[in-house]
Amino acid sequence: MRDAQPQSIYLKDYCQPEYWINQTELTFELQEDATVVTAVLTLEANNAGNQSGVLELQGQQLELLQLALDGTTLAADAYTVTDDSLTITGLAQQHQLSIVTRIDPAANTALEGLYRSGGMYCTQCEAEGFRRITYYLDRPDVMSVFTTHIIADGERYPVMLSNGNCIADETLADGRRQVSWLDPHRKPAYLFALVAGDLLHKEDHFTTMSGRDVTLRIFVEPQNIDKTEYALDALKRSMRWDEEVYGREYDLDIFMIVAVDDFNMGAMENKGLNVFNSSCVLANPATATDAAYQRIEAIVAHEYFHNWSGNRVTCRDWFQLSLKEGFTVFRDASFSADMHSATVKRIEDARMVRTVQFAEDGGPMAHPVQPDSFIEIANFYTVTIYEKGAEVVGMIHKILGADGFRKGSDLYFERHDGQAVTIHDFVAAMEDANGIDLTLFKRWYKQAGTPVVSAEVDYRADEQALYLTLRQQCPDTPGQTNKQPMWIPVQLGLLDANGQDLPVQVTPSVNAAGMETWTAASQVLHLTEAEQTFVFSGLESQPVLSLFRDFSAPVKVEFEQSAQDLLFRLQHDSDGFNRWDAGQRLMLGWIDQARLDEFELPEDARQVMAELLSDDTLDPAMVSYLLTLPSEAYIAEFSDQVDPHAIHLGRQRVRLAMAMALNEQFAACYQRLLSHAEYQPEPQQMAARTLKNLALSYWSVASDAGVRQALAQFGSSDNMTDQMAALQALICSGDDELAQQSLEAFYQQWQNDALVVNQWLSVQAGSADLGTLSRIQQLLEHEAFDWRNPNKIRSVIGAFANQALCHFHAQDGSGYRLLADAVIRLNATNPQIASRLLTPLTKWRRLVPALSEQMKEQLERVAAQPDLSRDVYEIVSKSLA
Ligand code: PHE
Ligand code: ZN
Repeated sequence: MRDAQPQSIYLKDYCQPEYWINQTELTFELQEDATVVTAVLTLEANNAGNQSGVLELQGQQLELLQLALDGTTLAADAYTVTDDSLTITGLAQQHQLSIVTRIDPAANTALEGLYRSGGMYCTQCEAEGFRRITYYLDRPDVMSVFTTHIIADGERYPVMLSNGNCIADETLADGRRQVSWLDPHRKPAYLFALVAGDLLHKEDHFTTMSGRDVTLRIFVEPQNIDKTEYALDALKRSMRWDEEVYGREYDLDIFMIVAVDDFNMGAMENKGLNVFNSSCVLANPATATDAAYQRIEAIVAHEYFHNWSGNRVTCRDWFQLSLKEGFTVFRDASFSADMHSATVKRIEDARMVRTVQFAEDGGPMAHPVQPDSFIEIANFYTVTIYEKGAEVVGMIHKILGADGFRKGSDLYFERHDGQAVTIHDFVAAMEDANGIDLTLFKRWYKQAGTPVVSAEVDYRADEQALYLTLRQQCPDTPGQTNKQPMWIPVQLGLLDANGQDLPVQVTPSVNAAGMETWTAASQVLHLTEAEQTFVFSGLESQPVLSLFRDFSAPVKVEFEQSAQDLLFRLQHDSDGFNRWDAGQRLMLGWIDQARLDEFELPEDARQVMAELLSDDTLDPAMVSYLLTLPSEAYIAEFSDQVDPHAIHLGRQRVRLAMAMALNEQFAACYQRLLSHAEYQPEPQQMAARTLKNLALSYWSVASDAGVRQALAQFGSSDNMTDQMAALQALICSGDDELAQQSLEAFYQQWQNDALVVNQWLSVQAGSADLGTLSRIQQLLEHEAFDWRNPNKIRSVIGAFANQALCHFHAQDGSGYRLLADAVIRLNATNPQIASRLLTPLTKWRRLVPALSEQMKEQLERVAAQPDLSRDVYEIVSKSLA
């Protein structure tokens, strides 16, 4: 809560700290509402810093009990304490500072610092949560060796964990138990973790490439012990993959994961002790969908990969957040691509970037991958930092090729092991290892906004040449105008009349950065100027152009292609991503048409789709993506002014038209893929289920036979993927009574499993058929709902505002009001969650006027609240600016 207006922090103001903290020894005497923390810090002046002898430590919501310098209690006039700092003056080169503070974990609803989740204690310190544990230099460039002693009642808390290795376990004179941990790797405070609780664990082992044995443990509350197997398996595969693909080995004797129910984010990479939102780690076939399994695999990998990209080499300051997040998302995406289908993974990622990141880039919170200012860093764990950051790393990978990229990452890890560095250092390692100049490329890190690339083609029969003119332009974003051209890798192909790729001969041969314009191996053209014309020669007839294959750059493409060419590419493009993209563009056109009138599926498209559905040589997951309509949010990103109701109507009509025209084919496809094999969360089965359940969803829209099949599947399936897909089909069947009965049966079956109940909440709240305001209000009153639990808030309010768009955008503004009320309520208890929920309200400028006004009113209502947290203040003030 604030007295004055919260201030921005700027990258240009970065200075090194005045002191280093070489050793940090922490003792926690755990008590629910009064935990005492003793911190003993070994300080050493930083001779490169300003040597004023002044030390300002950060601290929030702490009660200072004692302060001693080199063993002597400090007099009250030797230091000053404010709401968020402790300043000591007159210091020399080296000291030992001990600080005793008292904190209240039970009252900690913000879930930052030390808090309670269920019956356990846990911590979350990234980005600035450690300052809620003790006074500290809570910044990532201060790295320290941590020793942690945890003291508690050993009966109630049989498990007490921290980072590193356990070095002692003893019973104190008063009967309490004390467990001590030492982490030999220097680390910033944001990677500190502590967990205590009555937990069970599953154990496994991993032998590293140099032959060391690592113990792996996943800790859970007792009722979840049958949900750990998959995460352990994913962890072992991640460890092996990082050795094989990046040459990186794990560096402690034990690696632990703890599942907690109350968590603001997905998971946290604390050194040797990852803490996971239980929804991102726990699974068994009966309770978790294939999508959940894949998310778990990706997040386990992501957090594990941080051990190198984040922990061994960390960030100098929070403006460098994408250094670890963008790179690590790139790494986990490559891992998932290797485990499943690379094309499908690429489609999923591009879909996400286009839907969510492009929206952010086009809105009031647009910021560069390396931001130059922020008010509250917690607001910068964004799709731009993560997903666009990963795309930027991916473009470096495209430019350098796999071998060049590996040379660069080897140099980066070797050069900076144990350091806190910048994005510049990462790029410099890539440049130095490859003898290439990426100066131009670095604009991707500095310029916000999504570049728009327009393409114009001119085929000249007399020259047997195709002239391709590419122009790029990047729109203004808050605080940034007149952007310079970016280095855009354009992967492309030319198709002949049979759909075969033609050989490419192109001029000019060198670009502005001195790179070969075209490399056959990567099929990448390098666009580096505002406008460039490339000439492709030796073409006897006009080819069909396939641009931005593999989503080779996170840009918007303006290129008019006829419906005929799009259908041709949906059928023939050798690049799977572009087959999907062509199909989506075709469907966007249909949806646009169907806003105004009834719609019938064109016969040529019906034939192509029917062939896809019966072709059992194709990857079923791929076919499923090819036939999935773009989501309403995706469609909105392709509209200039957003009319959510027209989008909904157009999409519903196209869906119905596809369902009717292909009814038999969907039914046959479903039957063909029906399997009685025992459920396994493995790629081939998953792919088959994806298509089978897509077929069911269309089939049940158009015929009673389909609804009967959904009902049969709902009652008989032994796994959540099939059960949930059937439930969804029943919800969409249009038979309200059937939908209601099925939902009730589902709740009866699963009411004791919190993770399944959350899925039950979100399938209703996010549904166009059910997610009405009155249902949302009922769900908020339901026994299964809890305002303190972020997963439940996301399942109801998040699903409503991000998925049930036709209800969220109710004409009377009631959906916006409900969201604003939730934000105001959560502002006081959990500002991070409040601020994240706000995102849909930041899009008011792009809506049709009647809705836009109402949405803005709700934002203004939030802005007028007293005691806004920094988190919420930053989002509302920037959105209204
Ligand atoms: N660093 C975590 C990750 O991406 C995300 C996170 C941020 C978790 C802040 C908690 C708090 O892996
Ligand atoms: Zn991460």
